[in-house]
Amino acid sequence: MDAVSPTPPIEGAPTEGAPTEAPPSETIGLPPPRLDLDALPPRMLRELRASHVGETVAVNLYNGVAGATADPELLRFAASHRLVELRHLRLFEAVLPHARRSRLMGFWRLSGRLMGGLPARLGPAYFYAVVAGVEAWVDGHYAGQIDTARRLAPDPGLLRMLEACRHDEIQHSLDAARLDPSPPWGARALAWAAVALSRLGVAVARRV
Ligand SMILES: [Fe+2]
Ligand SMILES: [Fe+2]
Repeated sequence: MDAVSPTPPIEGAPTEGAPTEAPPSETIGLPPPRLDLDALPPRMLRELRASHVGETVAVNLYNGVAGATADPELLRFAASHRLVELRHLRLFEAVLPHARRSRLMGFWRLSGRLMGGLPARLGPAYFYAVVAGVEAWVDGHYAGQIDTARRLAPDPGLLRMLEACRHDEIQHSLDAARLDPSPPWGARALAWAAVALSRLGVAVARRV
């Protein structure tokens, strides 16, 4: 278990994924923790696998927007958020070798594309509602994972990574909610379904 010095906010760094004056992403320049996976409790390994899947879905969600909409603001939003999700994914990839990842990666990538492409095709209100709902749920997911890591694997680098990812996800949810603060009921229903599927997906990814 290594001890990595705290990562201070980067002065003047570009704010990814934010249409307004949001704080900079906390994962910029963050080194992945060096973990001894054989020493980690199986429960923590399952959690890391689930989050690796979640970040894979997130990158593909934003990949799915291209070709599904011509809305310039939505495209810009997706492109900037995708950069942050890609950084999250790289961190989890650095932690988890292929042999420890979910065996359903092709399915997760397709799920992500559908989760982004379908609401983007329906319209910006649908897309922002899905992102706001899912990211708010991901915030809670990471909060639970941070609690688990504190109890079972209190590695400073791992905790810093999970907390930095959580910070970014909260920001993503706020970004989306700001762009459409009162979505129509259809968009809220779609967001509810996307959260339910995310919950189910994490439960599956913990096992397979
Ligand atoms: Fe993420
Ligand atoms: Fe996110």
